[in-house]
Amino acid sequence: MSHNVAIDGPAGAGKSTIAKQIARRLGYIYVDTGAMYRAMAYYLIQNQVDAADQEAIAAACQHADISICYQDGEQVVLLNGENVNAYLRTEAVGNMASVSSVVPEVRKKLVELQQKLARETDVVMDGRDIGTVVLPDADVKVYLTASVETRAKRRFLELQEKGEPADLAKIAADIEDRDYRDMHRDISPLRQAEDATLVDSSDMTIDQVVERILELCR
Ligand code: DC
Repeated sequence: MSHNVAIDGPAGAGKSTIAKQIARRLGYIYVDTGAMYRAMAYYLIQNQVDAADQEAIAAACQHADISICYQDGEQVVLLNGENVNAYLRTEAVGNMASVSSVVPEVRKKLVELQQKLARETDVVMDGRDIGTVVLPDADVKVYLTASVETRAKRRFLELQEKGEPADLAKIAADIEDRDYRDMHRDISPLRQAEDATLVDSSDMTIDQVVERILELCR
């Protein structure tokens, strides 16, 4: 039996940074499920599929073959065989991912892939529905969150560091919109599983959060 750690929470709570470190410390593989939804979104944008047309998204997603592999310990997302990692972290792709991830056909396809990975390997998997839907029997479940202000400020500093234009108020508004969409969609909305431990990282350092979660794993 493989061992699974599920980490869910809203955008910008630090899930991927934390999950990567937990995976390294436990010797597990880190699976970033958001990147899979982003790869699907990238495919839809490339093929000019209308974000408001759920039927078109349901049809188009059948032609996107998504898989992952690992290079130098980093997860690489393959879209129809091509490494698309470099295109996934834009605001446009993030917003399309949030919109297209409400479509049942998109979720079905990606959840099956995630469950297969977790069956075969020890994983730390992060996302929105990992503890509730994808891996309801995960050994450890964490709901990692932080205030909107904290998450917006982190994202703002990240963009500034990259020398990209950043507007704090706009980032905070986008985060609120995305939270609302992620939490209020009909299927697999973002919510804390009943047996998940809540960790609020607003006033914690990365190291403190990692130690707290490793404690839960022991
Ligand atoms: O974590 P992220 O920002 O990379 O995720 C992008 C979008 O994908 C997010 O707005 C919601 C969706 N998503 C999802 O519906 N289920 C997951 N397990 C992971 C992400």
